[in-house]
Amino acid sequence: MAYALPTSRAAAMAEDQSDPLALAAQKFCLPDGLIYLDGHSLGPSSRTALEAVERTAHEEWSRGLIRSWNDADWINLPKTVGAKLGRLIGAPAEDVIVCDSVSINLYKLAAAALDLVDHKRILVEADEFPTDQYMAQGLSAQTGADFVRIESGAARQALRDGGVLLKSVVNYRTAVIEDIAGLEQIAAEAGALIIWDLSHATGCVDLNLADDGANLATGCTYKYINGGPGAPAFIFAAEDIASRLRNPLPGWFGHADPFAFDADYRPVAGAARFAAGTPGVLSLRALDGALDVFEGVSVEQLSAKARALGDLCLWWAERLGLEPISPGIGARRGGHVSLLHEQGYAVVQALIARNIIPDFRAPDAMRFGFSPLYVRFTEVWDAMEALQEILAARTWDQPQFKIKATVT
Ligand SMILES: Cc1ncc(COP(=O)(O)O)c(C=O)c1O
Repeated sequence: MAYALPTSRAAAMAEDQSDPLALAAQKFCLPDGLIYLDGHSLGPSSRTALEAVERTAHEEWSRGLIRSWNDADWINLPKTVGAKLGRLIGAPAEDVIVCDSVSINLYKLAAAALDLVDHKRILVEADEFPTDQYMAQGLSAQTGADFVRIESGAARQALRDGGVLLKSVVNYRTAVIEDIAGLEQIAAEAGALIIWDLSHATGCVDLNLADDGANLATGCTYKYINGGPGAPAFIFAAEDIASRLRNPLPGWFGHADPFAFDADYRPVAGAARFAAGTPGVLSLRALDGALDVFEGVSVEQLSAKARALGDLCLWWAERLGLEPISPGIGARRGGHVSLLHEQGYAVVQALIARNIIPDFRAPDAMRFGFSPLYVRFTEVWDAMEALQEILAARTWDQPQFKIKATVT
């Protein structure tokens, strides 16, 4: 179902009423009166996630103890939860495994990809998320492969000379979205490999990794998937390449038969070889429960709503004279919108004081996240109206709003 751009609060209410996703908001445990526009950083808890953790802690762990690895099928959770994520990223269930963090997975995938390319170099765009850059630098230092920082937007050109590219599908600052199929085609022609960072895309963008010819990807689950703080990440490795990949951290959970206790490593077939050590079962169960909310929801619908909410924010930005660095109204973009303000940090703090939570990325970007499962059009309207008041009255210009916290 398509969404319209509401240009009055009444129109925003009408949009909420006809929204096929409206009922999903009830599945989350958000405090009353809070407008939460930070799901691009940390998604809220859902009832199903909390229930899953409680059940696992009280029944499976407390009573079942070690038996639960078999009886409650803990041992297969990285695969069964990975299978649920597969639908959301457009990948076959068996090509996805839940493991480690995005940072660690980037390293593992980039090392494995380097083995397969002729031109031993790792490419990262200058405005790529820092951990992607650091991991590429670390791997370069360890392997001797060149680390090449290319200009933002230059991946298309640089790929033609081969190598391994680490690339976010949705940029964490701007929400600019990448053309996966287009870049994959260039990479295929040049013998290059791309590792997609899906952190800002999973759960709010209609991803079709398999159809787009993607080979390798990782992403986090604590943003739009709402898996919980520090929830485990996932890896996608396409079947036709996975079994040629060498995990540089060959732990026993990626072994073909971990309980044979062989002295030598023998990887299991497919993406599952990227598992390394014992998974965090409580976190996996939280993620499993969080994914229940997505059942029966199409990624096209999620994507359409996230963009429509973002359009409304951009419509307001125009009226408030705020400069966006995100793709404009009607354009394809990720789930958030970034607006510039030189006192952006203080403005965000003033909004938080009014029970509206966006976030801030230095030096001047205010990020407003539009997680489609629980953000309403009227909430965006009210948040933007509050922003208007804060800017007009310069409410942000108070000392308490300028004290920088560690996490922004
Ligand atoms: C694009 C991107 N990659 C990676 C990360 C973080 O990786 P990790 O889960 O290892 O902390 C983030 C966190 O916000 C991100 O936005």
